[in-house]
Amino acid sequence: MNVLVLTGAGISAESGIPTFRGANGLWEGWRLEQVATPDAFAREPDLVHRFYNERRRNLLDSQIRPNAAHSALAEFEKRHQGNFFLVTQNIDDLHQRAGSRQVLAMHGELLKARCLDSGELFDWRQDLSTTTPHPRDPSVLGRLRPHVVWFGEMPIGLERILTAATEADLFIAIGTSAVVYPAAGIVNMVKDNCRRIEINLESTPTSDLFDESLRGPASVLVPQTLARLESFGIDH
Ligand code: OAD
Repeated sequence: MNVLVLTGAGISAESGIPTFRGANGLWEGWRLEQVATPDAFAREPDLVHRFYNERRRNLLDSQIRPNAAHSALAEFEKRHQGNFFLVTQNIDDLHQRAGSRQVLAMHGELLKARCLDSGELFDWRQDLSTTTPHPRDPSVLGRLRPHVVWFGEMPIGLERILTAATEADLFIAIGTSAVVYPAAGIVNMVKDNCRRIEINLESTPTSDLFDESLRGPASVLVPQTLARLESFGIDH
């Protein structure tokens, strides 16, 4: 059985990372679309750096830890006999910290910086700025950007996602508002006989496309749903 899981900001909400479109989804009064674009970075790099510096610092706070939903997915992956693939829209590293192995961060990773010239990636835990020295040549300043996908840029790993979607027998979407494409369209890419389960606090624009749309917090429903699937032998 091939399992494909898609996660969004809702899975990390109970770990203390604010979602994008929740009540506190605005950052200092900015809509994400105004800070998370190549244009914004070209116009106001300091502002964009500040936005991601703040998120990076928050992610590195000792209070921020994976929750029961992240852990349940990692445990499930370890037990699962068939293929398991986790696609996350989140730029935090909570799935990896929980022990998930097959993770594709389709919108990038906050704890990586990318060279604007070569595309080379560097593990990054510090603030970035327009004067940050390049790790390879400290005389070169300000040529690093956050390794995150901005609006108008191509998400990472689309081909792998498409393959996983067409091969999936079980697709579970967790904590995503299903308004940002192509992630929101994965539910349309899976086979007709693929079982589709959505877990979210609220209904979403794609809820009707799922066989089951479960309402509640991910930290409760993800462990519960995975245990139910395993106990009915749907998975193994
Ligand atoms: P959103 O902030 O748009 O949506 C979060 C979803 O999680 C909402 O549907 C909530 O109802 C749900 N939710 C919140 N708390 C939850 C909980 N405890 N348990 C279950 N569900 C919960 O986040 P995403 O869908 O991830 O892209 O946003 C998609 C993309 O939009 C992001 O990756 C980001 C943003 O623009 C880029 O930056 C490229």
